[in-house]
Amino acid sequence: YGQRFAKVFELYTAAQRLYQHILLNTTAGEEALKYLEEKRGLDQATIQKYGIGYVPEDNAFLHYVEEQNIDSKLRDESNLFLTNDSGQTRDRFARRVVWPIANAQGQVVGFSGRTLDPDNQIKYMNSPESSFFNKSQLLYHFDQAKSSIRTTKTAMILEGFMDVISANLAGEEIGVATMGTALTAYHVRQLARIAQKILLLYDGDEAGQKAAKRSIALINEEAPKVEIGIVVLPDDLDPDEMRLQRGLPALQKAMEQGVLTPTEFLVQAARTGRNLSNQAQYLDFLKEILPILKKAGPIEQETQLNRLTEEFGTSKEALKAQLAEVVLPKN
Ligand code: CTP
Ligand code: MN
Ligand code: MN
Ligand code: MN
Ligand code: MN
Repeated sequence: YGQRFAKVFELYTAAQRLYQHILLNTTAGEEALKYLEEKRGLDQATIQKYGIGYVPEDNAFLHYVEEQNIDSKLRDESNLFLTNDSGQTRDRFARRVVWPIANAQGQVVGFSGRTLDPDNQIKYMNSPESSFFNKSQLLYHFDQAKSSIRTTKTAMILEGFMDVISANLAGEEIGVATMGTALTAYHVRQLARIAQKILLLYDGDEAGQKAAKRSIALINEEAPKVEIGIVVLPDDLDPDEMRLQRGLPALQKAMEQGVLTPTEFLVQAARTGRNLSNQAQYLDFLKEILPILKKAGPIEQETQLNRLTEEFGTSKEALKAQLAEVVLPKN
């Protein structure tokens, strides 16, 4: 589709340049620049590296498009504008900080915008789905990260744009993010073509841990040879909050030393919300983790069984007998 949409992509590049110019060099961009520098801890070099911009309320890009006599069909196809019932057109991302989204080839194919207003219910807004902006196939920053992913044979998946940037500031160039949607088989296959290992660094909250569980299952299904590592952040923090509240070294340390195997992660996740000194809940916990241990290699199985014995006093013979009875579903 490169040819057919070349004009749209050209328009996106022009929009990205104008939005960034407004952010960095004009009074209309002052509030957003202050927000990015003071509240989000980004310097101008980082803002430039990621092409971040600001869309003011004065329809600056609409005026540009009118001055350039860009035809209305192309204007509509770009999805950069919204027209209301009374026929008034305005910049779609008005009053938002915007991140350009590139495809795997590095072509800007859309934008994602974050509101500056804390009480706006719609925190993030993306370009609408189209034949070239397909969230189930796009990974934020993949175009920039792919050479480091190839070299290290390792990719890292995060939740958001700011999380990718935070990992990057902590020295990790291999980060990519899904765009407010779940990881798909397409994403996994794209990463598995160049990576032997995938690290998951989701938000430390419950939603992030749920997403990690789901992604582990999907990666095992789509790319069974790929090794998986999971980093769990403390206190519901996401990587960006970790950087801002605990500092870059803390995020660095978590990424380097806090990697769990899927077995460790799933056992840890099974503990949350359960009182394991209660017999019924302990048995429930075992019911959840024994199938996980059954699938684990002999060494990890041994480690985990030893831990259970130490912590709960259940003998290894009893655990092994129970494990022998577990029947894994054939897929
Ligand atoms: N996201 C998106 N589209 C949406 C919602 C979310 O692209 N409709 C992406 C954003 O990049 C966001 C990420 O998904 O950063 C994770 O969402 P969430 O954790 O809720 O974002 P926050 O960390 O709360 O956002 P911020 O740090 O900007 O406050
Ligand atoms: Mn949130
Ligand atoms: Mn989240
Ligand atoms: Mn988050
Ligand atoms: Mn965040």
